[in-house]
Amino acid sequence: MTLTKNIIIAIDGYSSTGKSTLAKHLAKEIGYVYVDTGAMYRAVTYYAMINGFIDEKHFDKEGLLASLSGVDLSFRFNKDLGYAEIFLNGENVESFIRSMSVSNKVSQVAAVPEVRQKLVEQQQKMALKKGIVMDGRDIGTVVFPEAELKLFMTASAEERAKRRYKEMRDNGVDIDYQSVLENVMSRDHLDTTRSDSPLVKAADAIEIDNSQMNVDETYVLAMSYIKEKFQNI
Ligand code: DC
Repeated sequence: MTLTKNIIIAIDGYSSTGKSTLAKHLAKEIGYVYVDTGAMYRAVTYYAMINGFIDEKHFDKEGLLASLSGVDLSFRFNKDLGYAEIFLNGENVESFIRSMSVSNKVSQVAAVPEVRQKLVEQQQKMALKKGIVMDGRDIGTVVFPEAELKLFMTASAEERAKRRYKEMRDNGVDIDYQSVLENVMSRDHLDTTRSDSPLVKAADAIEIDNSQMNVDETYVLAMSYIKEKFQNI
């Protein structure tokens, strides 16, 4: 289905609710551009790690801010994968940014207002022509409060940890379920309680709780909201 009108579809929600999988699939089906904003926060976190601004024990926020202008993020479409990969200062960092060490630090970096401001500006520029599906935590509230369709994804913490655990084990990562659950819960806490742009459902967002749904069922439901939207505009 190719849509004749370009709109902005914002998909926000908790970690491991399948936002990226859903957003990628929807974008492909309707011929829209997909943007994974979590990858942008992860890439800045990875940059902070390799430059010694953050580790397990300390976070040199001032150091990171002083070199933030040297952080260049871009997306390049990979035809084989069917979606865009993220590049940090010209280097493809997709394979580094999903590690547990980045996951454990990303919420701290994402809580810094100057980091958010820089990334939000870049995200807004990417959607000047609309026709975009963007997923994150603040897309429907801060980045595009005027987005035509907003979905808010949620599921129980245990179910999300189970999914993340399976995905990591399938990718050969040696990790125990309890650590994954703790990471999910600690990120929920940091993401929902930070003072700048906390994770919150926009008043006009449609909530999808997919604790009891698989990937295909979630997709079919989201697609029905898109079709409904297009009948009404
Ligand atoms: O979607 P994800 O798990 O890859 O996101 C990684 C982290 O980045 C997540 O813990 C919260 C943060 N994030 C954010 O604060 N705002 C966004 N728009 C996207 C992600």
